[in-house]
Amino acid sequence: AREKMVIVGSLNMDIIMRVSHIPRVGETILTSDIKNAAGGKGANQAVGAGKLGGRVYMIGRVGNDLYGRELYNSLIKNGVDANGIVFDDLLPTGNAYIYVSENGDNNIVVNPGANSRLSVEQVQSFEMIFDQVSYCLIQMEIPMDTIEYVAAICREKKVKLILNPAPARELNYQYFQDGFLIVPNETEIERMIPGEASIEEKAERLLAKGFQNVIVTLGEKGCLLVNDRGKEYFPAAKFKAVDTTGAGDSFISGLAVALADGKELADAIRFASLAAGITVSREGAQPSLPDYETIRMYM
Ligand code: RIB
Ligand code: NA
Repeated sequence: AREKMVIVGSLNMDIIMRVSHIPRVGETILTSDIKNAAGGKGANQAVGAGKLGGRVYMIGRVGNDLYGRELYNSLIKNGVDANGIVFDDLLPTGNAYIYVSENGDNNIVVNPGANSRLSVEQVQSFEMIFDQVSYCLIQMEIPMDTIEYVAAICREKKVKLILNPAPARELNYQYFQDGFLIVPNETEIERMIPGEASIEEKAERLLAKGFQNVIVTLGEKGCLLVNDRGKEYFPAAKFKAVDTTGAGDSFISGLAVALADGKELADAIRFASLAAGITVSREGAQPSLPDYETIRMYM
């Protein structure tokens, strides 16, 4: 049977601006198109897993406003159990301001809003969820003490933790000893393990910090898996890049659903790469996440 998972993380309304290129320092440019789409790394990973038929709970926080209701509805529509979402009366729903260039590259600035009030107390009030699940997915758009608390419960309850360290910052590695998996991208691993070393060496150093597995996502170059059995590269699925927003989240959802089905890590990575590839070929974050049938067509 498919095992259950919980996502503890952010929900943002994305404001997406299409631009010819990512603006340089001091440069002013015009956008050709602007639209909103449901996003936030936590919500994207939850919706991604929900669309793939995963059994998903989400714990998160939005403002008591229109965007908050839209993001909540997107979870429900995609089969996510959203009882762990709290509507905050003090801060508005988080926003992400995203530039997407003609070749699909992006950069993102997040105004966390209500996500910054996803507290340890809130997680405690939904702690019974952790007795139901085998996997927990978490990212870093929420307060660090909440992340550390979640890592501690996962350890205590033997829930496999998948940490997406985005946006990257310093970690207290003591909380992540024996953590199942960490999934940084290139920028994030550079930030976490600064210095001259190669990506492979940095991945090994991250492994030595206490994780059981490290996957570095490398965009169109695929990804690198490092664990105590060695290292292995996996190619990216080839799709034309329209908007890379959400690709990392899609990869993690695909991975988690495949693992929850009992697949081996290598097979789960191949499935996740297809999910990410499809996401890159479509606009927006949540609107670009594939369902199971779509991925199957490419298998
Ligand atoms: O990973 C993509 C997401 O990052 C966007 O949806 C945006 O909300 C930011 O959280
Ligand atoms: Na996309």
